[in-house]
Amino acid sequence: HLSVKERIDKKRKAALVGGGQNRIDAQHKRGKLTARERVELLLDPDSFVESDMFVEHSCSDFGMEQDSNKFPGDSVVTGRGRINGRLVYVFSQDFTVFGGSLSGAHAQKICKIMDQAMMVGAPVIGLNDSGGARIQEGVESLAGYADIFLRNVMASGVVPQISLIMGPCAGGAVYSPALTDFTFMVKDTSYLPTVQRYMFKDYKILSSGYEKVSHVLFSGVAHHAFENDVEALLNLREFFNFLPLSNQDPAPIRECHDDSDRLVPSLDTIVPLESTKAYDMLNIIQAVVDEREFFEIMPNYAKNIVVGFARMNGRTVGIVGNQPKVASGCLDINSSVKGARFVRFCDAFNIPIITFVDVPGFLPGTAQEYGGIIRHGAKLLFAFAEATVPKITIITRKAYGGAYDVMSSKHLRGDVNYAWPTAEVAVMGAKGAVQIIFRGKENQAEAEAEYVEKFANPFPAAVRGFVDDIIEPSTTRRRICRDLEVLASKKQVNPWKKHANIPL
Ligand code: COA
Repeated sequence: HLSVKERIDKKRKAALVGGGQNRIDAQHKRGKLTARERVELLLDPDSFVESDMFVEHSCSDFGMEQDSNKFPGDSVVTGRGRINGRLVYVFSQDFTVFGGSLSGAHAQKICKIMDQAMMVGAPVIGLNDSGGARIQEGVESLAGYADIFLRNVMASGVVPQISLIMGPCAGGAVYSPALTDFTFMVKDTSYLPTVQRYMFKDYKILSSGYEKVSHVLFSGVAHHAFENDVEALLNLREFFNFLPLSNQDPAPIRECHDDSDRLVPSLDTIVPLESTKAYDMLNIIQAVVDEREFFEIMPNYAKNIVVGFARMNGRTVGIVGNQPKVASGCLDINSSVKGARFVRFCDAFNIPIITFVDVPGFLPGTAQEYGGIIRHGAKLLFAFAEATVPKITIITRKAYGGAYDVMSSKHLRGDVNYAWPTAEVAVMGAKGAVQIIFRGKENQAEAEAEYVEKFANPFPAAVRGFVDDIIEPSTTRRRICRDLEVLASKKQVNPWKKHANIPL
């Protein structure tokens, strides 16, 4: 007979090794860290406070009731800790115990920390590595998923939720990350199949490489992919620093070593003289923000729009920019959805939005039309219009057609809207315009020159007050920093509603 103290020690020891040394070795062999090693790396040293180490599953079918099938803590490690001193709740699925599969007990552990995170106002980070629903438990585990999904939805817009997929995330499990604000992946080891491998005999081929990255590149399900566990976790720590803890918190301010008055002379010549010539919007963004530090979200998806986090004089800001280098920076279905979701995150969490505009319009073509560009483009318009956080807009070159309206224009309650001298705010480019309004007439070239003279410059917008000023590009950083200072006390409230009906 063991004393209670001995039993406690024994269980604790057992919890620390999960499914045992052999399975830990197998996990390492695959280039993966264990659930506990991941938590250690993610959180500040000695900050992890674990909960539910003694929880066990309650399944008694298929021999699960045997002691050899019980693992203290079951297949997930949960608790709270700190990242650079700031509170966070975390769960880390343990693949060494029944493939990290989700039992009723596993789900309850996750729900418990989610409830607490909501109560105290702190983000939730999920480290996913799981074979999906615990097959032995049947509907019990499906209920567990739904309990988590419900909490994901309730927490949306209240506390930031981040998923890092570090192994399989199978079956219904994919919908929890899909409901969270950001989903990151580890390149070679993570995958999110929605069907089990036995259903398709060629599944192995699909899951061996192509499918893994496809979520990042083609589907837009994931927001970033990292090389390995260590890189992913360290990047997640960096990323966390940008976020407020909850919707009640202001965006964090970090001490800034980059002069907020710094002029950026290179910007005066960065936009090419020919309006059809491409340039890289990333160069503008990096030159303007603190210490050139820009955490890009979805860098490999819908590259015609750039979104991500940076700081201005130490304050977190969300940056949205059209990318003239890709499809001339046209808005299409994917870039509209990418932009809209980002803008809504920023608005939900008090992060000011800075928008760099160089957009020739919406991408034409039947594929876009049939795919619903009107519905999807409307999302971005909706997101900018409803956002009440500080909004600063800089038109670097083209702001054509409906896309001009969409890109955080004055008309959608832009707080400060600037044009660079190279800005052209017009219904469309001169060539297209002349072909329509002077169709069949002579002197097309003359008409085109007249159109350029009239519209291909910032004045039509500036004389109407649709931009607040035409600024020297080199002063852009200084201007934005000063404006953000003033706008920090901005208060704007939308009319009461149960919730809006954004076009989905
Ligand atoms: N329920 C219960 N146990 C599970 C499980 C699940 N959903 N998924 C994996 N396991 C167990 C396996 O039985 C295995 O146990 P064992 O080593 O004692 O035999 C262990 O976890 C490791 O799984 P294994 O299949 O050997 O790992 P793998 O890396 O080769 O494959 C998966 C990983 C996730 C692709 C594979 O386990 C799988 O397809 N699981 C089922 C996925 C699914 O359909 N889930 C239900 C739908 S929500």
